[in-house]
Amino acid sequence: MFELDQLSVSFGTATALREATLTIRPGDRLGVVGESGSGKTMLGLSLMGMAPDAAQVTGRLTVDGQEMTGAGEADWQRLRARKVAMIFQEPMSALNPLRRVGDTVADPLRIHMGLSAAEADARALDLFREVGMPDPEARLRQFPHEMSGGQRQRVLIALALACDPALLIADEPTTALDANIRLRITDLLARLADQRGMALLFISHDLAAVARATTEIAVMYGGDIVERGATPAVLKDPAHPYTRGLLGARPDPAPQPRRNGKRPRLPTIPGTVPALGDLAPGCRFSGRCPVELAHCATVRPEMRDLGGRFAACHALEGGA
Ligand SMILES: Nc1ncnc2c1ncn2[C@@H]1O[C@H](COP(=O)(O)OP(=O)(O)O)[C@@H](O)[C@H]1O
Ligand code: SF4
Ligand SMILES: [Mg+2]
Repeated sequence: MFELDQLSVSFGTATALREATLTIRPGDRLGVVGESGSGKTMLGLSLMGMAPDAAQVTGRLTVDGQEMTGAGEADWQRLRARKVAMIFQEPMSALNPLRRVGDTVADPLRIHMGLSAAEADARALDLFREVGMPDPEARLRQFPHEMSGGQRQRVLIALALACDPALLIADEPTTALDANIRLRITDLLARLADQRGMALLFISHDLAAVARATTEIAVMYGGDIVERGATPAVLKDPAHPYTRGLLGARPDPAPQPRRNGKRPRLPTIPGTVPALGDLAPGCRFSGRCPVELAHCATVRPEMRDLGGRFAACHALEGGA
């Protein structure tokens, strides 16, 4: 169980993640959505102890009761070898171009899990099968450039699963992939989490993918988690004005076609996300919010329980 308590990540006066409080239990499938720069990746990196060196990290993170706040690199490495793994958007850059992918997956099994070379190879083959790699024996011997984007992402998922993580963090895992492969990788991640009882933190711009893969959702804006709740409830009936904007601006819940070769991202809400240092000290969404109140920019709204779901907004307070 991963417990974040008021975890913040700042760069000087710019706060990339502000007092995030969140519990991730075994088997949870939590989607994280929000525009670019809202702190999604920083949340994922914080759970891995991989916030940039320049960042100041405050607040608490405990993993299965173990206090990770202020932990040294050796403790983080142990955690990463056993409990948490992360996959990123661009599978090519995460793979060593000069190693056969089978070796890339087998290496950590020998080094961290103490398997013999033969055992590690056999386990790599099992993992390739588990992630639905076509023709897995042959693929083990290939180099990354000989594979498609979807196959490379499957290699990285296999690599992430090698240490049997309790939590898999997938940061925009399908953004670089074609539409039909996107759905398959999304479904694969959800299925793996289900079958293994593994928690999944699924960070994505793609609301259709989040709807498919997750049971809960956290909406982020300007470093704040502004709304949380069951995925169907939040997508059907968003409480926070930012979530409403995000969903209202979505033209179609179905996977969207490419336009000019580029996949559309989350549609835009009027205005742009201000630079981190220029965000209001109160509600980060003030200045763009269509229902803003006089004190929104200066007073930070508390996260309120709306009956099993949570949102932080002054307009939801006191029957307003
Ligand atoms: N090394 C860094 N130095 C200063 N600011 C950073 C650094 N890394 C990220 N940030 C800032 O932190 C904020 C959150 O970034 P990020 O978590 O990557 O957002 P997201 O993943 O939601 O797009 C951004 O405004 C980004 O500019
Ligand atoms: S707190 Fe105010 S500015 Fe922020 S979302 Fe609510 S109404 Fe809008
Ligand atoms: Mg990101």
